[in-house]
Amino acid sequence: MGLSDQIRQAAEIIRAGGIAAFPTETVYVLGADVYNRKAIARVFEAKKRPKFDPLIVHIADLSQMQPFVQEIPQKAQQLINRFWPGALTLVLPRKAPYHDMMSAGLSGVAVRFPSNMIAQEIIRASGAPIAVASANVFGNVSPTMASHVQDDLGQAVDIVVDGGASEIGMETTIISFIDEYPVMLRPGAVPQKEIEEVIGPICVSETAGNASFFPGMSDHHYTQRTVMLFSDQIEQLPKNLEIGLLSFKPVADAGDYAAVEVLSATGDLNEAARNLFAALRRLDAMDLDMIVAQKVPDTGIGEAINDRLMRAAF
Ligand code: TXA
Ligand code: MG
Repeated sequence: MGLSDQIRQAAEIIRAGGIAAFPTETVYVLGADVYNRKAIARVFEAKKRPKFDPLIVHIADLSQMQPFVQEIPQKAQQLINRFWPGALTLVLPRKAPYHDMMSAGLSGVAVRFPSNMIAQEIIRASGAPIAVASANVFGNVSPTMASHVQDDLGQAVDIVVDGGASEIGMETTIISFIDEYPVMLRPGAVPQKEIEEVIGPICVSETAGNASFFPGMSDHHYTQRTVMLFSDQIEQLPKNLEIGLLSFKPVADAGDYAAVEVLSATGDLNEAARNLFAALRRLDAMDLDMIVAQKVPDTGIGEAINDRLMRAAF
């Protein structure tokens, strides 16, 4: 089925109360009509996601926030002007009680305006904002290809729209405006530095870095099968073990490993972000004894890459 037919069918499914997986510029998402509680419940079931980990409302027009966002603080508006449509999620004070399930009863609601055209067309054609989460089983790394969604969710979803590999491959940065000061709940595709160039210093949630599980905050550790350690934690590679290497750039000692995934041949952080989750999935599927990962430079999107590596590390 052609892409435009897939888009049309996905929107029909969502309008009819079904759940559809589709690409955004960050990762693939699984979405339901934001006004359909049964469909939202199915998103949680399909992902095996705890009910207290809320979804993100995806819009394709700023006016779609009106029914459930109480107010847009001035600094939030500045970030909207600068980064929307784009890879930034804002948690804003919410009004309508009927968003309880989606916001897990939290005082805020997460909103995002994706820049990906397929996502925008599906939201527009479905006639309402779409409540989504990353289209993976809870605990897995986010999907960046339609095949990852099939692997994780298979028949649990009504359609998977295939838009190819995600352009960015890293989830959105999440900034909360529930408290007096803006707080980064999770580092993501928009680097903290770029956020602070617009609104000045922001707080960083204590869960953002150590990826511990905290209801309504960032996801917890990934539950991949293979133990992963950082290269700086290992003096000597253990002999007679099948070890995979996840490296930022090409390495000279590749021969010492059973498998090597290089995130960027040229050492480009954006390319590394694009390849990260697919590389982790490939290594994790090889039934290795261990994965050794190298941290990347902690600048720009590298902050988010290292945050996700921390979630995958043992
Ligand atoms: O790129 C992305 O952000 C992708 C796609 C779906 O847009 N989203 C994503 O979704 O990674 P998910 O569900 O895996 O992560 C959403 C994060 C969760 O950590 C959740 O706790 C947080 O957003 N969140 C959602 N609503 C919130 C709220 N009302 N207050 C605080 N945190 C919230
Ligand atoms: Mg997720």
